[in-house]
Amino acid sequence: MISPAPSVSKIHLLSDATRAEIDSWIAKYPPERKQAAVMAALRIAQDQNGGWLSVELIEAVAEYLQMAPIAVHEVATFYTMYDLKPVGRHKIYVCTNISCQLNGSDRIMNHLQKRLGVKPGETTAGGKFTLKEAECLAACGGAPMMMIGKIYYENLTPEKVDKILDTLD
Ligand code: FES
Repeated sequence: MISPAPSVSKIHLLSDATRAEIDSWIAKYPPERKQAAVMAALRIAQDQNGGWLSVELIEAVAEYLQMAPIAVHEVATFYTMYDLKPVGRHKIYVCTNISCQLNGSDRIMNHLQKRLGVKPGETTAGGKFTLKEAECLAACGGAPMMMIGKIYYENLTPEKVDKILDTLD
């Protein structure tokens, strides 16, 4: 549960590298607007933590940006790019928005569910993959598409999906 204000500092949960990266985002905004870096800061903290955000880490980000913990929690729960529980080593985001839907995202999603034995939002036994549905990822010209980690894979077919998954550890 998110506490209204952190009583004990949690900043130490952010590694030096994470803090340095967050600082580079803070530097893009006027000093009194450092909260504008909140989305980037959550992404960086999530990357540090194996792809998900604990309550403590959200509170650490809030403290670092001098924001109310609840405000940062609202951001973390609003966007699908943040995960609030442990995830697999590879997060697969399948776009199911209109262009991808019209070009067969259902087929891709069904194929992935069958191959991995999980539904969207679930992680495979052994923790290799987490399957997720995504809204438009701005690659509509390559529909249907998916993103794994930070890489986009476009014009997908079930066969192409299999080949991609086979290359991942
Ligand atoms: S609708 Fe899928 S990337 Fe835009």
